[in-house]
Amino acid sequence: MPGQLHSALLHWYQGHKRALPWRNTSDAYRILLSEVLLQQTRVEQALPYYERFVQKFPTLAALASAHLEEVLKAWQGCGYYARARNLHKLARQVVSLGQSLPQSSAELRALPGIGPYTAAAVASIAFGEPVAAVDGNVRRVLSRWFAWENPGPKQVQQAADTLMAELVNPGSQAHPPDGSLPGDWNQALMELGAAVCTPKKPRCEACPVASFCRGRQHPERYPAARTRPQKSLELAALVLQGPQGYHLELRQGPVLGGLWGVPMEEGPGALERLLTRFGLEKAEPVGTVRHDFTHRKLSIQVYKAPYEAKENPRQRPLSKLDRKILSLVETESLRL
Ligand code: ADE
Repeated sequence: MPGQLHSALLHWYQGHKRALPWRNTSDAYRILLSEVLLQQTRVEQALPYYERFVQKFPTLAALASAHLEEVLKAWQGCGYYARARNLHKLARQVVSLGQSLPQSSAELRALPGIGPYTAAAVASIAFGEPVAAVDGNVRRVLSRWFAWENPGPKQVQQAADTLMAELVNPGSQAHPPDGSLPGDWNQALMELGAAVCTPKKPRCEACPVASFCRGRQHPERYPAARTRPQKSLELAALVLQGPQGYHLELRQGPVLGGLWGVPMEEGPGALERLLTRFGLEKAEPVGTVRHDFTHRKLSIQVYKAPYEAKENPRQRPLSKLDRKILSLVETESLRL
């Protein structure tokens, strides 16, 4: 049975895989970039960022010699900025040692920002290492094949490892026409999860491996949804505006660190603290901006006040949140 399962899925993948730019290359840097982007961004959204990034930083060495701010500017709007900060750090680390990207998943795993998924994806796709890459799509596909409602991470990884081992065993019948067998297998599982075995309304009638699937009668039961609590936060933002521009500051911290933004404070007394910080008596309320991060629901009261400020927001990397705040203030002043 495993032989047939593997052949059926690989065959389907050859016929249905999307023509994506990182699938036409054997350049490990480009493959790494695509996997880092795709960790938290859907393919359609990631495409323009991939193109822009490759154009600006065509090699690992080019990325290493760029300033972090330029790198964040190219990533602007894509979210999860730690990915860009880590990629830049990784480039500098590898290049400063006079090396190129390592080929094994174990060595890749030791680099900044590279988790088990990304290490396995890059090692299998770029270098043909038979390691299973388990992302959310693969977890869902395997949970349905085995009818698992609440599989633990080890259980899923073990099942994926076994399937990979069966794929590359000497008796395996699976041979892709070109490319790397382990890389194609990993991508075939991901592609099935993205295109057919979707979270809602999976298209079992179009699935090349439905006959192997124990969860087929009730695919939506597997795996059970994991509910993550979302914390609500109240913030105040102070847009300080002068004839020459805005006052922007370099953000710190894990979420938006390295990007620039308008002064913000959280919790009770947020506005007062902002006013004190800038020696101001009052600010004018402009409106509310709402913004969701993965585990945080933000509600931001936006205020503005005149100030000697001359920063041009176009020249700095800004998060979507800050761009929403500035565009609220700009639309507001157009109305007056
Ligand atoms: N998601 C993350 N990496 C992917 C890849 N290489 N192919 C399809 N979907 C993906």
